[in-house]
Amino acid sequence: MPDRTAGLRTAAAHAEAFLNTLDDRRVAARSDAGAVHTALGGPLPEHGEDPAAVIDALAAGAEPGLVATPGPRHFGFVIGGALPAALAADWLVSAWDQNAAFHSLSPAAAAIEEIASTWTLELLGLPRTASVGFVTGGQGANTTCLAAARHAVFARAGWDVERDGLIGAPPIRILCGEQAHATIYTSLRLLGLGEQTVIPIPADAQGRMEPAALAEALAANAGPAIVCAQAGNVATGAFDAFEPIADACTEHGAWLHVDGAFGLWAAAAPATRHLTAGVERAASWAVDAHKWLNVPYDGAMAIVADPDAHLAAMRLAGPYLVADPGQRDSTNYVPESSRRARAVPIYAAIRSLGRVGIAEMVERNCAQARRIAKQLSTIPGTEVLNDVVLNQVLVRLPGGDDGNRAAVAAIQRDGTCWLGGTTWNGEYVLRVSISNWATTDEDVDRSAAAVAAAVT
Ligand SMILES: Cc1ncc(COP(=O)(O)O)c(C=O)c1O
Repeated sequence: MPDRTAGLRTAAAHAEAFLNTLDDRRVAARSDAGAVHTALGGPLPEHGEDPAAVIDALAAGAEPGLVATPGPRHFGFVIGGALPAALAADWLVSAWDQNAAFHSLSPAAAAIEEIASTWTLELLGLPRTASVGFVTGGQGANTTCLAAARHAVFARAGWDVERDGLIGAPPIRILCGEQAHATIYTSLRLLGLGEQTVIPIPADAQGRMEPAALAEALAANAGPAIVCAQAGNVATGAFDAFEPIADACTEHGAWLHVDGAFGLWAAAAPATRHLTAGVERAASWAVDAHKWLNVPYDGAMAIVADPDAHLAAMRLAGPYLVADPGQRDSTNYVPESSRRARAVPIYAAIRSLGRVGIAEMVERNCAQARRIAKQLSTIPGTEVLNDVVLNQVLVRLPGGDDGNRAAVAAIQRDGTCWLGGTTWNGEYVLRVSISNWATTDEDVDRSAAAVAAAVT
């Protein structure tokens, strides 16, 4: 009998050791990739090694290059932690090793995707008839949704883009708020729609698309159009005004896509739901699970109101691919064919927190964003630049761009917390993003003190 579990206990011991350091370990990595290369590289092994020895070597070699991203004080990018149930479920995903492409390959994966879809749509207040694809992240979700959008707008113009491609296709227009996330542009590039073709719609001081400017731009020309709006600006956390945006899209027959990578979770909490008013009127939505749902990397959902458009853009068929009529073949909702059962940890996260727990986590992180904003604003010469409506804070520290860059570097070196910088209205400033289930108010206070110490 092959020993199928060799190495698992060793991995569990290393995982536990890592997780038990998360609350206190330095947040930034202790070294760059060089040290990990030195420890783990070398010539291609000629002969194999014992699984437990491989795991021991991996854990020791990777250690200096690990960042405490799942820890409670990583406030850079938009980083979620890993809920215990979601992490444990993710281990099962690997052990089960299901190929979640076709129902025939894993009825379990298909069923769990269906349940996680239904729960997610209910949590986010989106149409229950929408279809959901489980993709790797916001990037994959934006690409999948925009592929469905591309199908639909070309179909309205009498063009079959899946069959005939883009050469000779009728013109379409793509309109994005000028603060659209970088991944929207990558998606447009991948879909052959181009980045420079986008008609940028001016945004206000918080990064919200101006609905009147959108209506004007839509009215300026007839023809098929895709509009990209956003729930949660990556710098300010601001939400586009979905009601007037949806009105304009309805009037002009445009496909409205909402990038809600982290912000869409605001719809799951009573205190923040108002920010998403009207979002359910969109045609597609991208939302991450590895951000605010606190599922380990990677997981996200591409949600499309019209399942036919979703399927037309993504469907996979071939003579040996056993499709089960009436059953969910998950590959038909995503760009990939073979793939891991990504919905399993999402299912576990939702089940372990419940509707109430998810709302509490979102509201707690938002309160913590307000808390750190208040504390940072007491540092002399510091200004909070955004309305802290969600979990994002933009702060200008004293000393101009150079002072802010130096402070960001000092904060990261210190290691109490990890914060990044960004450019906002031409200035280099500090950004804070809080979306971890394990972050406590004490973590916030310690981090604010570390920022103050880096400035003085
Ligand atoms: C608004 C928005 N869209 C898309 C993304 C990309 O998400 P991912 O890194 O999961 O692909 C992000 C990431 O922060 C985001 O904030």
